[in-house]
Amino acid sequence: MSTDEFPTDRPAVVTCGLPYANGDLHIGHLRGYIGADAFNRALNTLGQQSIYVCGSDMHGTPVAVNAEQEGIDPEEFALRWHEQYRETFPQFDVEFDNYGHTHDETNTELTTEIVRTLDEEGYVYEKEIQVAYDPEADQYLPDRYVEGTCPYCGAKARGDECDEGCQRHLEPGEVEDPRSSITGNPAEYRERAHKFFRVSEFEEYLTEFLDDLEGTSNARNQPRQWIEDGLQDWCITRDMDWGIDYPGEDGDDLVLYVWVDAPIEYISSTRQYSERVGEDEYDWEEVWTDEGEIVHVIGRDIIQHHTIFWPAMLEGAGYNAPRGIAATGFITINGKGLSTSRNRAIWAKEYLDEGFHPDLLRYYLTTTGGLQQDVDFSWSAFREKVNGELVGTIGNFWYRSLLFAHRNYDGTPDAAVSEEVRERIEGAVGEFREAVNDYSLRGVGGAAARLAGFGNEYIQRNEPWKLVDDDPETAARVIRDCVQIAKAVAVLLEPIAPGKARALWEQLGEEGDVADAGLEAALAAPPRTFDEPDELFEKIEDDRVAELEAKLEARVEEASADETETESHDATADEDEGVTDELEPLTDDRIDFEHFQDVDLRVGRIEVAEGIEDADELARLEVDVGFETRQIVAGIKQLHDLDELAGKKCVVVANLEPAELFGYESNGMVLAAGEEADLLTTHGDAVPGERVR
Ligand code: 2FM
Ligand code: ZN
Repeated sequence: MSTDEFPTDRPAVVTCGLPYANGDLHIGHLRGYIGADAFNRALNTLGQQSIYVCGSDMHGTPVAVNAEQEGIDPEEFALRWHEQYRETFPQFDVEFDNYGHTHDETNTELTTEIVRTLDEEGYVYEKEIQVAYDPEADQYLPDRYVEGTCPYCGAKARGDECDEGCQRHLEPGEVEDPRSSITGNPAEYRERAHKFFRVSEFEEYLTEFLDDLEGTSNARNQPRQWIEDGLQDWCITRDMDWGIDYPGEDGDDLVLYVWVDAPIEYISSTRQYSERVGEDEYDWEEVWTDEGEIVHVIGRDIIQHHTIFWPAMLEGAGYNAPRGIAATGFITINGKGLSTSRNRAIWAKEYLDEGFHPDLLRYYLTTTGGLQQDVDFSWSAFREKVNGELVGTIGNFWYRSLLFAHRNYDGTPDAAVSEEVRERIEGAVGEFREAVNDYSLRGVGGAAARLAGFGNEYIQRNEPWKLVDDDPETAARVIRDCVQIAKAVAVLLEPIAPGKARALWEQLGEEGDVADAGLEAALAAPPRTFDEPDELFEKIEDDRVAELEAKLEARVEEASADETETESHDATADEDEGVTDELEPLTDDRIDFEHFQDVDLRVGRIEVAEGIEDADELARLEVDVGFETRQIVAGIKQLHDLDELAGKKCVVVANLEPAELFGYESNGMVLAAGEEADLLTTHGDAVPGERVR
């Protein structure tokens, strides 16, 4: 792992959390796979040698339970979904360099080898523990076979995860008031010998690992807290038939916990790629054991697995640690939690069947909000984004420039690119580079969209249509500039919208693939001639949106009615993506304007942000509010990278009564929203002290 800026001269691998091979893919899945694909493409555009690998997660109770319900063998069941995923991903231009699965030979062998090594190194031991058991079904109840209450936050939880509450991983025996999800009966706890991995021995290593880790701040802050709370060893075996056998004789009726063999697929898949292309071209061992850049894109519900268990396993078995972990927020639909059981989801197939181009969704998912923020999908927000940014800004600029160039010059006019435009393109390339190094896909898309916006403003300002006859030289120069900008936008937009960038590339008559062009192409001359262009983006009409919203609503209503009828202890019925709470209803109590004005809201600039020692959540901020600098205590210690807050603008309630929190006076309040304390700010030239109205 290095901390040199991308591109480095070491090979990189980008991965995305493996999908359980147990059901249809939806927009929640796509956010991660598209995001990681875009990041990998952006690295390649930067000139970084990088591949994107993944695979299906075949084992564990998420698969076993669903297979059992269909009455088929888990292997057959999982392979069927695996094949379906292999077909679906490319339809969204999610291009894996290798897509394997956890049950294949490579992963089975590598997992066995890694567990053996951990055992030989003294990191594995056996312990008698209490395991949930259903006497009526006469079986042990691993993971999703048991439900109960989270001992940490009191939320309803599954046997191995607090999926509706604090998102913590739960160890066997931890869930309180356990009930069997097979029969619904209370489960009893029985003593059983299981294998444990000594995660607690890696405390110091993990603390340092987190200090160096790049990616999103949630992937650093949450685990720091877990480490502070004390690390527990990790039970790595389960009483099941479906999975990879625990190696060795003394555990021969146990399989490995799915979370052992799942991340090892990241290595196995890289290895399969190397074996296919040859190690001279890409050496998996160099990446995983010598010098390589490993980047994981994951959902924020699996941060603990990737920032605690996984790096400890890698370190214990002699492998490299990831350089970056980017943990995405959840997707909500019309402001409510995505719920597969309530059919409140946008399914991958459904989206394509509606006839939308994959790039529209790619653009929406990658550029709406930062990676770690929750993104709300609604068809109307989708239309707004598509019509505004893709049709109105990018598509409009591409079409008008190329059409003008084709009609008047049969292609690229014979002129030099102006200094102004060269500098603007160089600026956009710089923004792109910075965004990739900040793991900001919104920044990558923004660099392209802002450049296209500049293009529109440039053509409008220079009015070449008025110059063609009177000042042909200037007209040719302006259009030469515009064709160059159009080409540069295609290069910068390719990671986010590869299909549309490819189409623009073809319209320009460029040779080869824009994906291989690299950043230098942004300023390289386009071909001399090209044909009449087509419009690449199409407006989405209002009535189309109304139709789609109505369809979605009807579906959710129907599923809710079915669910009420069949509500049971069905372990598969609960696939909600963590965000199950509905939004707080709007209040009916209105206030008059004077009352609103009583609240003195001001623009502030954070000067200092530091965690308060011994307080889990509180940070001490020094905020410039124009007339003075205020000390404000805010509950954001775990939710923000405090080092990155200095210099950021925020919104402050300046006339709140001072209060004392943890021994510190808090003189005002910084406004934030959502689970991740998304800080409210201003986006223009408002300076500290200005009133927010
Ligand atoms: O949570 C999930 O959907 C898991 N299938 C992710 C596994 S990611 C990994 F580490 F392999
Ligand atoms: Zn919990």
